[in-house]
Amino acid sequence: MLPPRSDFPAGFVFGAATAAYQIEGAGFGGAGPSHWDSFAATPGNIADDSSGARACDHYHLWETDLDLMRNAGFGAYRFSTSWARVMPDGRRPNPEGLDFYDRLVDGMLARGLAPFLTLYHWDLPAALADRGGWRNRDIAGWFADYALAVHARLGDRVASTATLNEPWCIAWLSHFLGHHAPGLRDIRAASRAMHHVLLAHGTAMAALRAEGAQDLGIVLNFETAHPADDIPGSAEAAATHDAIYNQWFIRALTGQGYPQAALAGIGPHLPQGWQDDMGLIAQPLDWLGVNYYTRGLHAHAPGLWPNDRSVAGPLPKTQMGWEIRPEGLAEFLLRLSRDHVGDLPIFVTENGMALEPGADVTADPARIDFIAGHLRAAREALAQGVNLRGFFYWSLLDNYEWAFGYGPRFGLVHVDYDSMARSPKASWHAFRQMLAQGRAD
Ligand code: NOJ
Repeated sequence: MLPPRSDFPAGFVFGAATAAYQIEGAGFGGAGPSHWDSFAATPGNIADDSSGARACDHYHLWETDLDLMRNAGFGAYRFSTSWARVMPDGRRPNPEGLDFYDRLVDGMLARGLAPFLTLYHWDLPAALADRGGWRNRDIAGWFADYALAVHARLGDRVASTATLNEPWCIAWLSHFLGHHAPGLRDIRAASRAMHHVLLAHGTAMAALRAEGAQDLGIVLNFETAHPADDIPGSAEAAATHDAIYNQWFIRALTGQGYPQAALAGIGPHLPQGWQDDMGLIAQPLDWLGVNYYTRGLHAHAPGLWPNDRSVAGPLPKTQMGWEIRPEGLAEFLLRLSRDHVGDLPIFVTENGMALEPGADVTADPARIDFIAGHLRAAREALAQGVNLRGFFYWSLLDNYEWAFGYGPRFGLVHVDYDSMARSPKASWHAFRQMLAQGRAD
């Protein structure tokens, strides 16, 4: 059972989240190629050799999907626009692409869903990847131009705009660990990307503000980092991971500077004069988005910085192999408000679990328990004074889980990838039941 709706303030937002490349079908509607298409076409990168070419065919089935959002009782929908659909060559707007999002936003409003827009959820146009992508400082201007093009078309109707989704993944996971497009394992590329994502955020924020845009924020991911054992090197590995993952972005965004423990390895590879960008990066935010899934255990790894290797933990795990630890959500919400953002509104912009389907693909009691645990953690943070404004489940639909392909199923709604039939799971019904209950005043 999920906690009652009345446990949360009246204006508290409940929604579900998706991202363009994971659901739309990048092969439809005149979208240009993105670096995810080429990454997915390269052998060895994706567990099942799949891509987002068709995904959930949301490009054609978007009305069905918005109905599923409304019928669950959600008040908001977190979605992303695809840069490669809006600007197939990365620079010139594609009216067909903008028309799609125009219809989508109108469809949300018609169903009483507040549109929570994310501008970049990883589908970088291939033409810009060819020019160095996130390694190239010019991406700050390219991104701001794209942000303005979307704002010009949708800005009058969206409730909230996030510049980037999970900059750690955009920069570190993709350029140092090599798990996501463009699949690099290069400290110089990664360090530049770590800075340029923030520069692009700041440049777009300034450009959007100049156009009168409101309710601007960014979505960061947080993962608890604990030492795997008592060896001092492991405490250091966890601290280094924490600095790269949990501190780098929020510190820079709030004018606190890059953390020393991360600068130790990244600093020598940053672009010259990076210090001069820190003012632009620390634009005032209207809200912060928090994605939280799990914790990681870290052990000392001999050899090169960051001397960190991940170790499997003892807690129960999701289909991704991620430990389930709801209290970490409350810990992060408290830590963020205490150390970084004070009273700034915070939204949980993603939280969810992948779960292997059983014979009945709609029976997912473990997911209901997972959500209940994390909603209780959110409630705890609220009780302790965190200015938490909403919670978005990841994800509305089973979808393309990046390098893991279509295996992991995060959805409240099951998707049959042959027929494209949608079947609401028990967790969808649990939200429906919860959200139908009277709201607190
Ligand atoms: C974070 C990402 O924003 C989303 O794209 C992904 O599918 C989920 N987490 C689950 O891994």
